[in-house]
Amino acid sequence: MTKQEKYIELVPQIKALIESESDLIANLANLVAVLKYELDFFWVGFYFVKPSGFLLEKKQEDKLEEKQELVLGPFQGPIACTRIAYGKGVCGTAWKKQETIIVPDVHQFEGHIACNAQSQSEIVIPVLKDAKVWMVLDVDSDKLNNFDETDVYYLEEITILIEKKYTSLSPNRFP
Ligand code: SME
Repeated sequence: MTKQEKYIELVPQIKALIESESDLIANLANLVAVLKYELDFFWVGFYFVKPSGFLLEKKQEDKLEEKQELVLGPFQGPIACTRIAYGKGVCGTAWKKQETIIVPDVHQFEGHIACNAQSQSEIVIPVLKDAKVWMVLDVDSDKLNNFDETDVYYLEEITILIEKKYTSLSPNRFP
C-alpha cells in the first residue's frame, strides 16, 4: 500500500472516531495513536499554546505570544520535551509562521530541538482556533526526508477535522 492509499483509508476512520466522541483530549489521544501505529511514524503528538510557566519573568509590554509557550499534550512515542518557546525549534517556528513546516533533515534546521536522537525528519502542522494557533501537530520520523506534499495534504485534512469540531470561527480555513 502506498502512503497515500493508507491515508485515504485512515481519514474516514479518524473522522468516525472524532465524530463519535466529544472530549478533545480523548480525540487527540486516539488520533496520535492511529497515526503512529498505522503510518509507522517515530513520534506523533500535540503541543498546546498555553500561558507560559514563567509568567512572572515576563514584562507587561511583552507581546502575547511571548507570554505563551507550547506545552506537551497527547502523544505516542518516546518521552519528549514538555515546553517549547514561541519561535523556537520546528514547532515554535510553525506556531510563529502559522504554517506547516517540513524538515527533511532535522540536523540541517537551525534551532531544531532534539527530544530524541533517533528523529531524522519532521513535519509540524498548526491547528487554529479563531484564527490563532491553538496547538500544533508534530510528527517525527526516524528516516531522513520522510515527509512530502502527501503528508501535508492529509495531515492538514486531519487537523482541520479537529478545527471544525471545536472551532466556530475560522471561515478562511473552510472554503
Ligand atoms: N523537534 C521539535 C521538538 C519536539 S520533539 O520532536 C517531539 C522541535 O524542534 O520543535
